[in-house]
Amino acid sequence: MGSHRGRGFVNAVLRRLAAEGEPCIKNASPDVIWSHPPELVKRWTSRFGKDRTAALMEWNNSVPPIGGVTPGNSSAVEYKGTAGRYVRDYTEFPRMGDLNQMDIPEGVYIQDEANVIVARMGALLGAGGRVLEVGAAPGGKTHHLAGKADSVVSVDRSFERMGLWKENRSRLGWEHCLPLVALGGELPFAGGFDLVFIDAPCTNTGVYRRRSDARWNWSEELLVQCSDLQRELLRKGAEAVADGGVLFYSTCSLEPEEDQDQVEWFESSFAGFDRIPLQGPEELVRDGLISIFPPECSIDGIFAAAWRRGL
Ligand SMILES: C[S@@+](CC[C@H](N)C(=O)[O-])C[C@H]1O[C@@H](n2cnc3c(N)ncnc32)[C@H](O)[C@@H]1O
Repeated sequence: MGSHRGRGFVNAVLRRLAAEGEPCIKNASPDVIWSHPPELVKRWTSRFGKDRTAALMEWNNSVPPIGGVTPGNSSAVEYKGTAGRYVRDYTEFPRMGDLNQMDIPEGVYIQDEANVIVARMGALLGAGGRVLEVGAAPGGKTHHLAGKADSVVSVDRSFERMGLWKENRSRLGWEHCLPLVALGGELPFAGGFDLVFIDAPCTNTGVYRRRSDARWNWSEELLVQCSDLQRELLRKGAEAVADGGVLFYSTCSLEPEEDQDQVEWFESSFAGFDRIPLQGPEELVRDGLISIFPPECSIDGIFAAAWRRGL
């Protein structure tokens, strides 16, 4: 179609939509209105109910803020922006063109506040120790682990993503962090780490607001694949934890198969690990687990659990 005819066609469709849009939307199903896969909407509706599912889909379609913190617990750096919802020194920056055109202070890693919360919890549990990070690239969690740990081994299966991690290491000065491109399920470590932090690959259902295309990858098969891989990473990760050390597990999924069910599976499969109840405002924590429902907390949907290995 030539560009002139093409424009004419688009205009005709838009005129029709403008004229008929109201009844058209009224009759449409929620998956069409909010542009989500129908099978996922069905799954969420049976779990969350209609209204909470609609709120979640509306949230997923909203524009996320751009913000971050400097490493550690520092709030000493003062820069423009607005304070975060939960994290005192989280700063949101006004959007101006693309990220490269924005005036972002040196040392800031752009990420959602939910990531900061979970990464800092893990980092505090591994403070001063030897840390193994699995699923590390491009380094959003490393940024916080690096600020507290004595040393960090950061593992990811993706060579390309670890390239980004290395760029971030140069930019942010994580000299005591070593990159390792490897499969987390095949690591050779037996004990030795004070903290093993698994940021598991997952279906991403808690971060669709930031990864708007990811919803179209959703399938029950993907869920099963992710859940199997997460168990593999938990199994290997547990082996690498030193006596008295901590295993930390996080996902950016809202699905129980990747979150609470994995906790139950881990606890029924591995003796000698005691759950560490994670603390936080009541809307972020359920039964000592971080479990965030985005539209009710206004941050990304992240899940986290932690255990200490007995001495
Ligand atoms: C949630 S993302 C990590 C995000 C990162 N921690 C951050 O905060 O920037 C999960 C990562 O796991 C990696 N991954 C997937 N399968 C893996 C495996 N079998 N072993 C190690 N890493 C894997 C992916 O390449 C991806 O980078």
